[in-house]
This record gives sequence, C-alpha cells and structure tokens, in this order.
Amino acid sequence: MPESPTFAQPDQNALLLPFAGSRREIAEYEANGGYSALQTALGMTSEQLVDEMIASNLRGRGGAGFPAGRKASFLAAGLDRYLVINGDESEPGTFKDREIMLRNPHMLIEGIIIYLWMIRGAGAYIYIRGEYAKEASILEGAIAQARAKGYIGSPLPGTDYVANVYVHRGAGAYICGEETALLASLNGERGQPTAKPPFPAVSGAFKKPTLLNNVETVATVPVIIGMGGAAYAGVGTEQSTGTKMFSLSGHVRNPGNYEMPLSATYRDLIEGKGGGMPEGRTLKAFVPGGSSMPILMPNQLDTGLAFEAVVAAGSMAGSGAVIVVDDRTCMVRFALRTAEFYMHESCGKCTPCREGTRWLTELLRKQEAGLGTLAEIDLLLEICNRVEGNCLCVLGDACAMPVRSHINNFRAEFEEHCRLGRCPCPDDAPMTELYPPLLKAPLPMVHAG
Ligand SMILES: Cc1cc2nc3c(=O)[nH]c(=O)nc-3n(C[C@H](O)[C@H](O)[C@H](O)COP(=O)(O)O)c2cc1C
Repeated sequence: MPESPTFAQPDQNALLLPFAGSRREIAEYEANGGYSALQTALGMTSEQLVDEMIASNLRGRGGAGFPAGRKASFLAAGLDRYLVINGDESEPGTFKDREIMLRNPHMLIEGIIIYLWMIRGAGAYIYIRGEYAKEASILEGAIAQARAKGYIGSPLPGTDYVANVYVHRGAGAYICGEETALLASLNGERGQPTAKPPFPAVSGAFKKPTLLNNVETVATVPVIIGMGGAAYAGVGTEQSTGTKMFSLSGHVRNPGNYEMPLSATYRDLIEGKGGGMPEGRTLKAFVPGGSSMPILMPNQLDTGLAFEAVVAAGSMAGSGAVIVVDDRTCMVRFALRTAEFYMHESCGKCTPCREGTRWLTELLRKQEAGLGTLAEIDLLLEICNRVEGNCLCVLGDACAMPVRSHINNFRAEFEEHCRLGRCPCPDDAPMTELYPPLLKAPLPMVHAG
C-alpha cells in the first residue's frame, strides 16, 4: 500500500521528534541516535526517571493534557504492573499517532522500553485502532527487530530485567480510546467505560496497576531522557512544554501533520505551515483540538497552541487536530455531521449520552433540512447543558460542546435555516473535505413539521 502523500515534510529547525523520512528500520534509527536514551535510562533508577519526566513538565498528548511525570509517579516500580499505550486514535481529524507508528515506530518502542524499565512492568500492550492494519504490522515488524537486537525478550544490558511488548488490535470503536473502555476491551470485556475510581494506576490491564499513556506521549520519552527534562521544559511555554504534533485538515492548502513548539500560534500553523485558505476563500472558523472541542473564530487565530492559551480562548487543545473551515461551509450541517459521529459512537451505557447524542442529532437533522423551529435552537442548547458533565465518560460532552459553540457563534445561520425552510448554503459546500460521510441511512426519529 503506498504511503499517503498528504503528510508534510517536517521543519527540521523546530523538531524534537525526528519524523523526517522513514526511520522504520532499526539500523537507520540507531544510526540517528536511536536507543541511546535507553542506554542512559538503564543507568538511572526508577525514581530518577520519574523525576526527569516531572522536570520535563510534559503534558499527556492524548487529549486531557495530564502531566505525564505525575501520572508516572502514581506507580512505584514493582511486580505485576503493566504499561498500556493508547493508539486508538479515532477522533475525527486526528491522525498524528498514525504517523508516529507508520514512520518512526522505534521511537515509540524505545519510549515503551524506558517506561517499562521505570515501572519494572510485566509487559506493555499497544492498543491500536482496528483500522490501522498497516501500522499494526509495522509495529510488529519493529518489535521483531528490537527483539533481534536484544532490547525486547531478553535481559536488558547490565540488568536482569526483560521487557515484553505486544500489539493488541481494537475492533474499530471510538469509545475504546477512553482509558477505562480501552482497558475493559483489553481485558476481554465489553468495551465500555467504567466509573473512576478505581483509576488505571490501581486497577487496569488484568486488573493490575497500569500506566496508560498516548502514543505521542510515550514516543516523546526518549527525547526527554536524551536531552534531560529541564532542557525539554525550556521549549514551548511554562505550562505547555516541548513540541507537539498537530494534524491539520479541512479547507487548507497544505494539510498534514506538523510538529510545532507549543509557544507557536494557530496562525503559525494554519497560515505558516498550512499555507492558509484555498484560493479565493476566507476563514469561517476552526476546530482547535479535535471534533469534540468548541470551535474558535477567525479573530482568535493568534491564540497560542499551548493548553492554557486554548482554554483562555474558550476551547481546549485536545488531541491537536486542527480542522479549518472556509466561508462556503454550512455550520448547521457541520454541527450535524459532528453530532452524528458521536451518536454513532456512543456506547449506550449511560442515558444522558445515549439519549442526548441521538436527540441532538435528530434536532440538527431537522434544522439542517429547514424543518426546525427557533424554539428548537434553544432546546438544542438545553440538551447540551443536560448532557455535559452528566455522563459516565466525556463522550457525551464531546458531542455537546461543539454543538453549543456552533449555535453560540453562528446562531443567525441556524435561524436563517428556520426562516427560509431550507439550507441557505450552496449545495456544493464541501462537507466531505471536513469529514467523510458517516451515516448513510436516515434517522427514523426525524419528523417533519
Ligand atoms: C471518548 C474518548 C475517546 C478517547 N480517545 C483517545 C484516543 O484515541 N487516544 C488517546 O490517547 N486518548 C484518548 N482519550 C483519552 C484517554 O482516556 C486518556 O486520557 C489518554 O489516553 C491518556 O494518555 P495521556 O495521559 O498520555 O494523554 C479518549 C477519551 C475519551 C473520553
């Protein structure tokens, strides 16, 4: 299968993660300094490694931005603990972990072995999205290469510790990216979230204490151990250190994955790296961190990419998926397409999410078709308020937050649909460039009039 041509070549100057070209072969990775951070780590104690991670102030790259060092500190080294790497990556717009696994699998594997050594883990499981078949086989190949070199499956040099690493393929459910649902799936149970506590650090894989981190988080570990936590913390901002991968998509000239220092802005990313809007188009809005996040407006382009800057602007940095929306786009249809995704992916375990995502989708279908009423715009907001903060996990919130922000920022467009009795936007509004079509069958619950 040919590699996607849309992945942009990275900017060598700003990079801590060397994504340039393919470093899939272990010889090439080692020739570029690969596995030297592991040698450094083997001379350090668990406590020293945790301290280095704390000093780096790295925030988890899976969405919530939880400090990685603090999470690591919850697990003292000992027997019967596991490392789980979240490679589920199913949020619309997010495709950064894929590129790491595709092009630089040894960086992830080196990070895994360092983390395993840190917690003296019984094993590591890479839980990978079911559709990532090629990435899974690349990881298997890279694990076999690391095994042949003695990094996996035999005692690490100068120690009696053996690192074991396995790939576990999911079955294509977005909810299995949520950590408790992922662990349930890994444990052979139905992939649905459970209430916390217990947190994974207490009961995770095989009901044992588990450290669970995103692919990009773990792939950054060799960088931090290699350059030192304090030096890493010197990049980015005080609260959001280092660089981060951003998946840039939608109506932009040069979509792709870009690694940016977290001190940069959305303008640097969208206009600088992405080349701005297509010819003759203007920016209408942008999604700053994956489809679940409230949208930002063109006058917020100078917002920083840092976690705290995006929160101050009224949204969240999430997974770093930036979706650019141009002036042709119907925002009602965009809200609908987003809600459809979350309705489709709701696991149905808790009522606010199961019923709320469906009700939002039903009402948005009416709105988009011009069959909705002005009162139902307020009803949509009311449902968002009822869903958010009331679900077992934040999948329900992930539906409510963008829908609310679409209405708050583009209420006039919703009202125009109601007044005209149809969508006022041109038929060729390019929704498919934002998300591929998700649901083919009409929802039976939509009633005209
Ligand atoms: C519905 C849902 C889907 C999620 N999907 C992913 C995912 O695909 N990958 C990921 O790393 N984190 C995902 N998360 C966040 C994880 O629950 C967890 O916070 C994260 O993997 C922790 O890694 P980090 O600390 O390195 O960021 C998801 C959360 C929710 C609520």
